[in-house]
Amino acid sequence: MTTRRTIAPEELDTLDLADPRLHAESDLSAVWRHLREHEPVHWNPATGSAPGFWVVTRHADVTSVYRDSTRFTSEGGNVLETLLAGGDSAAGRMLAITDGERHTGLRRVLMSAFTPRALEPIVASVRRTVERLLRDAIEKGTCDFAVDVAAGIPLGAICDLLGVPDSDRAHVLSLTSSALGSHDADSTAADAWIAKSEILLYFANLARDRRESGHADVIALLAGSRVNGLPLDDDEIMLNCYSLILGGDETARLSMVGAAHALLDHPDQWRALQRGDTGIDTAVEEILRWTTPALHSGRTATTDTEIGGRAITNGAVVTVWNASANRDERVFDDPDRLRLDRTPNKHITFAYGPHFCLGAYLARAEIGAVLAGLRDLVAELEQTGPARPVYSNFLSGISSLPMALKGA
Ligand code: HEM
Repeated sequence: MTTRRTIAPEELDTLDLADPRLHAESDLSAVWRHLREHEPVHWNPATGSAPGFWVVTRHADVTSVYRDSTRFTSEGGNVLETLLAGGDSAAGRMLAITDGERHTGLRRVLMSAFTPRALEPIVASVRRTVERLLRDAIEKGTCDFAVDVAAGIPLGAICDLLGVPDSDRAHVLSLTSSALGSHDADSTAADAWIAKSEILLYFANLARDRRESGHADVIALLAGSRVNGLPLDDDEIMLNCYSLILGGDETARLSMVGAAHALLDHPDQWRALQRGDTGIDTAVEEILRWTTPALHSGRTATTDTEIGGRAITNGAVVTVWNASANRDERVFDDPDRLRLDRTPNKHITFAYGPHFCLGAYLARAEIGAVLAGLRDLVAELEQTGPARPVYSNFLSGISSLPMALKGA
């Protein structure tokens, strides 16, 4: 991570923003700054068989696309991978890639499992898990923060939500990493496809078990609900369970590893957190802005329209880049500085509008638990080896972070 190559704006014509290596191995901040200033709605040309797509970089334009799911639909896919492959077979059935009335109905059902009240026992369990994992890491002296600490937190919470038995959790975690294909430079689309199919099969079986079991988890909630008057079928239940794992595991994990990395890189901010000069809530928001684990979201234009004065044709793929909008100097003072006490902080790490992240409260609680745990239990942090980046055009962050933790 320390050897990331800075890409100069002059190289823009040679870049393909869909290339995972570009995001993993280079620093694009100068390119984003240039685009925001001079070409805020940029055309990334077609490569091979993949079509070209629009790249929206300013905070104001990004939020206007997010807000308008009529002009910009998610039903053609909501990430580059599916959009460029010509669509997502779960459209209209999985929450994130459903729009209109069906989206509103399905979201209402799922929301009831994500209120602060409903999440209370899960958040309490997250805090216990964080404390246990940090104490183990301190006792051992060294750890891989990504693998030994962060990996156990969000997946545990989602498995609690879904009622996944403890004995299956390690298997589900390894499938989740492969399904997004983001950990290795060499992982293939076929590996990801196999892992995705296995997750779906796993949830299809769990959903079948749960239909009659009287459990009080999300699977049982989905199985017992009606959307627009009709019950959900097994496919819809399975797809929405899958979407919770894929949406809420690696994203949250990357923000926690990113938090530890940010504290290592900014000792003054680490000391401010330890001294209590900065509150956990504002620190969580700044970590979310700083790490931006979901680099982009994607949409398809449903009509001839415009964004920021640029003509967009019906059917065009439009990508909005959270990574750029979260550093927009029109919205954030000194955007390239980590300031854990930053307020206001209008980051769009969880998107905006109708598809605003369903798991935002849970993710905030998880990151808050890690920051509070580090503050209360750890005296000194040290990086003991190179950080390894994830390879993805959608997820951004670190898959391995060797560290030494000394107890307070
Ligand atoms: C939606 C980011 C944690 C479940 C989204 C979207 C983003 C996002 C950007 C909008 C996608 C779009 O507009 O196309 C994140 C980040 C997280 C996080 C950065 C952690 C730091 C979670 C968690 C869960 C979750 C913990 C659940 C356990 C969802 C779901 C949606 C969603 C179900 C779809 C909402 C809808 O379409 O109405 N998330 N997320 N996310 N997220 Fe998260």
